[in-house]
Amino acid sequence: MSVSIVVGAQWGDEGKGKIIDVLSAGADMVLRYQGGANAGHTVFIGETKYVLHLIPSGILRPDVTCIIGDGVVLDPEAFMAEVEILHKAGIKTEGRLIISPRTHIILPYHKKLDNCSETLMGKQKIGTTGRGIGPAYVDKYNRTGLRAVDLLNDTIREERIRENMKQKNFLIEQYYHEQPLNTDEILEQAAVYARAIKPYISETIDRVQQSLQQGEAILVEGAQGALLDIDYGSYPFVTSSHPVAGGAFVGSGLGLVTQHTEVIGVAKAYLTRVGNGPFPTELKGATGTLLRDRGGEYGATTGRPRRCGWLDLVALRYSMHINGLTQLALTKIDVLDGMSELKMAISYKLEGRELATFPADPVEQESIEPVYITLPGWSEATSACSSVEELPRSARDYIAFIEDFLKIPVKIISTGQRRDQILFQ
Ligand code: GDP
Ligand code: IMO
Ligand code: MG
Repeated sequence: MSVSIVVGAQWGDEGKGKIIDVLSAGADMVLRYQGGANAGHTVFIGETKYVLHLIPSGILRPDVTCIIGDGVVLDPEAFMAEVEILHKAGIKTEGRLIISPRTHIILPYHKKLDNCSETLMGKQKIGTTGRGIGPAYVDKYNRTGLRAVDLLNDTIREERIRENMKQKNFLIEQYYHEQPLNTDEILEQAAVYARAIKPYISETIDRVQQSLQQGEAILVEGAQGALLDIDYGSYPFVTSSHPVAGGAFVGSGLGLVTQHTEVIGVAKAYLTRVGNGPFPTELKGATGTLLRDRGGEYGATTGRPRRCGWLDLVALRYSMHINGLTQLALTKIDVLDGMSELKMAISYKLEGRELATFPADPVEQESIEPVYITLPGWSEATSACSSVEELPRSARDYIAFIEDFLKIPVKIISTGQRRDQILFQ
């Protein structure tokens, strides 16, 4: 038996989709445990690009069973659109894509409220993906949400939606001053959703436990990243779930499995963030633009340009601690090819004081100044290297510095978008 939990170690978009795709070659099951269609996980198979929002990236391997776990918030519309894309590409989902009955359902009013709230906040907005994530988790914790199993029950579905709509429309009209939603239309839509996703809903706990007992290889696919975690991230500029590895133990039905468990933190060789909030090592000038252009740094879900900056080892160490990482997968090293020198933050300065950790205070997060180490770059192309030894000396030194500083092995190095552009050490 082996469980590998693959999590975003930064602000999301680290290349989790690609790493999951590579590792799922040897996996029996891939599980998602949190978030929803706010995620955008890109996988290239040959020249074909797939962007998965809700469905585990393991679906692209025909023998892998994929589970959408209890901790996810599932938008049936996004789910069905994704299933359709897969079917059109000849990828089968029948019998190998299972939604937990406990998964909470995102309804049109969640998306509406997400957008109303962002509009009202104006410049102060979080910069959400608009996928209804926050409002859906609010209902879940308020115990007024609908789970997949509730969606299938005609009586519960109708009663709960009617009850919720009173409150939602009150908010939409009286607080946000926008047009109310039509309850009957939402009830109809929900009935359509129920019919569409019914074939995919079945008990997942037994299935996951069986897989553990049979010694299968299980991959757990995190969405977002540790710095977007509701408890540990740069609050309030975070998502509403637990992307950290601990979330996997409550959101997937695995239980607390600690034996034979790897926690793989995926980190870019530099750093990006999409949406608002603090970003100490952000580069607003030409170097930031260069990283964005070279790295194709545009959101896989919303198409927004990603903010780019230097790798932040203070934030990465914090992430390593709150996740319990056992190894790193370093992606997009090729994007740094050709840069004469590279910087990494190794501590922060705040009003003359040195800070060795990522602060909780949002005011401090905005005002800290990174202290950088500068390392030489390399001119050779890393994407054609077929072993770590072939990497340019300076690239190996860059990776070794990260390992020494954080005291964690970088076991996987990604040198391009393709499946075969991957090195193990
Ligand atoms: P995720 O959300 O963590 O799965 O990451 P995204 O898919 O949102 O963003 C990562 C982007 O980087 C995608 O376009 C990937 O195809 C791409 N990518 C992943 N690994 C590499 C790499 O090593 N080099 C380059 N150049 N691109 C990569
Ligand atoms: P993957 O899985 C990067 C960000 C949004 C916003 C904040 C809250 O592809 O790494 P939300 O819609 O979740 O309420 O938005 O979180 N965000 C992401 N940033 N990658 C993601 O997912 C993200 N999912 C949400 O931009 O700042
Ligand atoms: Mg993404």
